Amino acid sequence: MEILLSADQIRHRVDQLAVDIARTYDGRQVTVIGILTGCVVFMADLIRQIDLPLRVGFLTASSYRGEATMPGNLVIRDDLLPDLAGRDVLLIDDILDTGKTLTRVVARLIDRGAQSVKVAVLLRKVGRQEVPFEPDFVGFTIPDQFVVGYGLDFNDEYRHLPFIGVLPGGG
Ligand code: IMP
Ligand code: MG
Repeated sequence: MEILLSADQIRHRVDQLAVDIARTYDGRQVTVIGILTGCVVFMADLIRQIDLPLRVGFLTASSYRGEATMPGNLVIRDDLLPDLAGRDVLLIDDILDTGKTLTRVVARLIDRGAQSVKVAVLLRKVGRQEVPFEPDFVGFTIPDQFVVGYGLDFNDEYRHLPFIGVLPGGG
């Protein structure tokens, strides 16, 4: 598999993001919410470097897809979330692709009473966005290729890889 981002590159960038995030919130408590399952590796590394008082929670957002890159109906399950009323939320996702998932999930978090929602994504794919959406923190901008590893999957495989690679013939 062709390696697009090595484990070392990712580690350095995640450390920088954590510093940016801590500076942005300036000592305030943040509720970090991850979108399962793609967020898990990125979020686990990120939150351990963020020097702020933190709460952590998760939700799921799954789209039924005919193909890996063709989002269908999005189903959000947020019954495991902590109370968000009046909270500053930092939402974590693996990758910003079309923007549909993050747009819908941010709206849901506002519905649940969040006072503010900022978004951190590890990856942003160029030329793919169908919905205008500006994340607050972006790890890397990548070309329009289907990538796996460091949380990202193809049919739920490859999430455990410590690097991000381009799946041969994928996407
Ligand atoms: P969006 O709603 O199109 O922005 O979809 C974002 C979701 O699609 C991500 O959270 C991923 O689960 C998935 N996704 C998009 N591109 C890739 C990729 O290259 N590899 C693995 N998953 C991807
Ligand atoms: Mg996925």
